Parts: sequence; C-alpha cells; structure tokens
Amino acid sequence: MCGIVGYLGKKNTKEILLDGLKELEYRGYDSAGIAVLQDNQFDSFKAVGKLVNLEEKTKDFVTENFAVGIGHTRWATHGKPTELNAHPHLGDSSYVVHNGIIENYATLKKELMDDGVRFLSQTDTEVIVHQFEKNLKSAENAFEAFAKTIHELKGAYAILLVTKSEDKTIFFAKHGSPMLVGINGENKVSSPEREGSLGYEKYFASSDAPLIGHCSDVNYFEDGDYGYVTADELAIFSKNGDKKKPNFSKLSTNKLSAQKDGYRFFMEKEIYEQSTVIADTLMGRVGDDEILFDEIDSSLFDGIHEIKLSACGTSYHSALSASYLFERYSKIKTSVEVASEFRYRSPVMTKDTLFVVISQSGETADTLETLKMAKEAGLKTLVICNVDNSSMVRLADATILTRAGIEKGVASTKAFATQVAVFWMMSLYLAKLRNSLEANEIARQVSLLREIPTSVKVTDAMHEKIKRLSKRYLHGHGFFFIGRDIFYPLALEGALKLKEISYLHAEGYPSGEMKHGPIALADPELFTIALLPQHLLYEKAKSNVEELSARDSTICAISPIEFDKADDFIQTTVCKDYMLEFFEMMVVVQLFSLEISVRLGNDVDMPRNLAKSVTVE
Ligand code: F6R
Repeated sequence: MCGIVGYLGKKNTKEILLDGLKELEYRGYDSAGIAVLQDNQFDSFKAVGKLVNLEEKTKDFVTENFAVGIGHTRWATHGKPTELNAHPHLGDSSYVVHNGIIENYATLKKELMDDGVRFLSQTDTEVIVHQFEKNLKSAENAFEAFAKTIHELKGAYAILLVTKSEDKTIFFAKHGSPMLVGINGENKVSSPEREGSLGYEKYFASSDAPLIGHCSDVNYFEDGDYGYVTADELAIFSKNGDKKKPNFSKLSTNKLSAQKDGYRFFMEKEIYEQSTVIADTLMGRVGDDEILFDEIDSSLFDGIHEIKLSACGTSYHSALSASYLFERYSKIKTSVEVASEFRYRSPVMTKDTLFVVISQSGETADTLETLKMAKEAGLKTLVICNVDNSSMVRLADATILTRAGIEKGVASTKAFATQVAVFWMMSLYLAKLRNSLEANEIARQVSLLREIPTSVKVTDAMHEKIKRLSKRYLHGHGFFFIGRDIFYPLALEGALKLKEISYLHAEGYPSGEMKHGPIALADPELFTIALLPQHLLYEKAKSNVEELSARDSTICAISPIEFDKADDFIQTTVCKDYMLEFFEMMVVVQLFSLEISVRLGNDVDMPRNLAKSVTVE
C-alpha cells in the first residue's frame, strides 16, 4: 500500500523525508520519490525498487534552509511500477503525492488533454496536479485553486501538494485514505495574532510510524478535511468549507505497534482492513449498473467457451469460489486446477479456453509454471494478482490487480477477500458480455457488491464472542468445516486458516459429503464448524448438520438463523444475499482461527514451516 510523508521546516528535509519513507517500507512498495521546494526551487528524485536506489540518487542533494517537501512510496494500481509512474507527480510548477484512487480520473484527464495538457504517467494521481494548475489560472490564490480541485475529485485520497506559487506552504486533503499531521510540542511557537496558529515545523504521514521520534502531538484528519500548513499556521477545513480547530492527541512511541496500527498481529490488522481494501478493489470498477474493467479489453473473451483457473492454497480456494460464480452468472464452463497437479498431468488445452491464474504474490512457482504452459499452448491468459510487475503479471496477456496492499501475515486473509470480490465483479462483467443475466439482475448485484465493505466490518460484539468461544476449541481430534455450494470453498479456506496458525487438524468438506465417509469420525471431540447461510440451500445444509449433531459431534454453527442443534452459535447479520453472507462468514472463520492460535500461544504472523511466497516447487 502506498505511503505518504511530508515536512515543512528548517531541519534536514531530505533526511526527514527519506527516514519517514523507510518507516513505511513495511507496507510494501515498488517505487519511491521525493520533491523538495526551497528558495522557490524544486528538486525531485524518483527511483524504482528499494529505497536504497532513491538514497543513491539523492546522495549529493543537500537541504539546509527552510524547505517544504513531500515523499511517497508507491504500490502500483494504475500503471506499471516505473519511474514515470512513481510519485511525486509534476505539473508546470507544482508536485503532488497521493494515496487512494481517483475514480473520475479518466473524465478529468480527457478534459485536460483536450485543453492541451500533456500527461507523463499512466496514473490517476497526475490529474490532481494538472487540475490544480488549471484552477490556479483563474483563482485568487493557490489555496482557492486547491480547494476547488479537491471538490472536483471523486474517490478516495490522501493528498499533499506543494507549489511554487506559494512556496512556503503544504496543501493537504484527506478522504477515505488515512493521513495525519504532527507537531513537536517542544518546538511549539504560537503567534497570538493569528487564530489557530501553531508551531514551526510540521510533519505529515499516512500512518503514525514516520512521525514517532519527531512529533509529540498529532492530529488525525477526518474524511473531507482539507487545508494547508505554513510555518505558523495549520488551517483545516471540513468538507463543507467550515474552518475546524485541530484535535491533537499524544503520539505513541511504539514503532512496531504503530506498524500494526495498534493491533496485536498483522493478521488481525489485515482482517480488520478488509473493509477498506475491498472498497479499493471495487473503486472505479463498480459503475451505476455494470462492472467496468479499464485494464482489460473485452476482446480477451472473444472466441472463449471455457475458463480454466489455476492456483495454489488460498488462491486455489478463491478460484473454486469463482467457478460457482462464473457458471451461475456468466454461464460459462469453468474448471479449477491445483497448479502443482496441473503441471504434470499432461492436460488437454484448447484455444477456446481462457487460462486464468490467481496469485497474491504473482511469484508462486507452480502457478507460474502453469501460466507458462498455457502460453506455450497458445491460450489467452489473465492473471488476478496483488503485486504489479510480479513474474505472472509480466507474463500474462492481461492483469486484474486485487489492490489488497501488502499482506504481512503469512496466513492470507485480505488477499483472499479481494480475489473473491474481483471474481464476483468478473462474473457480472462476463454476464453482461455474454447476455447471460438480465440487466436488472446485474444492476441488483452491482448494488450488492457495494455492500461488501460493510459486510466485512468487524464488530466488537462479533470479535468478543469469537474470543470467548475460542477457549472451547483448543483440543479435540479434529475439525470439520462444512458448507454447500460456494460455502464449500469457504469451508476449505476456514480449515486451511485454522491448520496454518493453530496446528490443529482441520478439513473442509462439502456438507453433503459427510455421510459418504467422514461422518465415521463424529464424536464429541470432533468439532464441526457449520456454515449455514440463510440464502443458499439453508434447509439442505441444516439437515447435514443435524446428521452430525445426531452422532454427538460438537457443532459450532455460523448462521443468521438461530440453530438449536448446535453446541455453539455465532450469529451473523440478516442480509439480502448469500454473497454478503459469504463475506461476513469469511471474517468469522478468520477470527476464529486467529483467536484459537492466540490462546495456544502460537506465532500468529509467522507460523512454523510456512513461507509467505513459495517460489520453489
Ligand atoms: C495460505 C496462503 C497460501 C497461498 C499459496 C499461494 O494462507 O497464503 O496457501 O495462498 O501459497 O500463494 P500466492 O497466492 O501468492 O500464489
């Protein structure tokens, strides 16, 4: 996920920006850059890859006087990780850094290009600086132009902008992406003649970590906030233009906890983050009543009669979910392959098949190899991936990025969530292309998609309940996770999560399969985690659970409908559609594994024997 830093003051601006970016390295990035304005002169540097490359480029650059500076680490979402696409982005005499996604960038870009503006990058961010400069021409001052620009943007953003037209100011705006400003209490100088005036130096960042050690007090911006800072002023305005007082709080001094945003584990943070990252996944792709994928050409599907999905582990489970959605909504034959199996079984590949690989990292050796095989066989290929410029992205004909940001916990959570969200969108995109669903049904589902970020929000009540329940599930001779239809891949994923971080034996099964053998294991020490959605085969799934309950298996039911045959019951929200139930139950099984692992004293983020990216066969 991208990171932002900013500094206004007399200290060594270059060092402060580079040190700040280093503190954001843990978030993952593929390029970085800084722009510093001192004595009305800009210096800007960008580099692809690690920060040492940027340090190398800036080694002869010195900042000694008062300066304003902004910096950024970029995780590519629009456009490849190249120097041109790295931030800060330049207009004629201004630079901008931005986190988030500008949804209406294509419209703004077209208007600007019609006015003769030349774009250097493929990013959505670049429109901000050009739009600002366009507005500057008719505005009284830079702040008026900045405010106008902010009101013209749609989407999510945290923005810092610096401009020669007011060279001792940093402009900021926040909507949907985090940002804070910090001051150092010891250096606080208030000038009584200016209301709201504060301090001397000001620090900005997209999360706490870069400010620790520099700032004593921070103000977390709220959505809709925008304004500017100068040496003796911090001016914050709310969405409707009213001036606000800053609301300072003390900054924590614990860097590791700051990186985890205060959560106990990265995995926990990533579970909580799912609401925001899924909103990013949907952004710009969920139209009023249809799905738009700017990054792919619909001709990719010309002549395609089958989709074959290939992946490993959690990504394989999301591929399995896709097969239900593609066949149900897009009416296209779909098959799913475990990549390590596919490689060696001399598969028949026909050119009317679109070969889709799914990978969080884009580097998994087995999946990559199947992609190579498909390319060699002349198939069209698509990758659903979280890391731009990864080996799979470079190789495939087309890419859809999941935009989950870096995932630190070895047990995958938000990567899975964003993959399934992409597949749901893709099934509707294909349904339109293939005329397999009525337009009003597509529109209904498009509006459901917008509800996923709410469905995956973790409530205190839910987390507390799971925490309490977890103590009853620390032993036994195994777990069955069971579900029907698309809840079967979710059952597999739930079982995998539990195995990975609790080291307890767990299996995922289709509910209807229990009586064909596995039910022989049923006894009180066999724990069954039953997924019982209201809107998909409820009665069928319920009777499968009853069969287990009759054999005295210990049942934990997850359902919006109370189930009296269960020993434990986690109630989910009554909602409109089984896919929203899917996403909420996904969070439940993730938290369930997490809390069991915590009680067992395991290393949640780095479970034994596992690696985050499996680049060997
Ligand atoms: C499980 C997990 C793994 C990965 C698998 C494939 O939590 O993370 O099962 O899903 O190793 O990795 P990617 O998606 O990077 O290809």
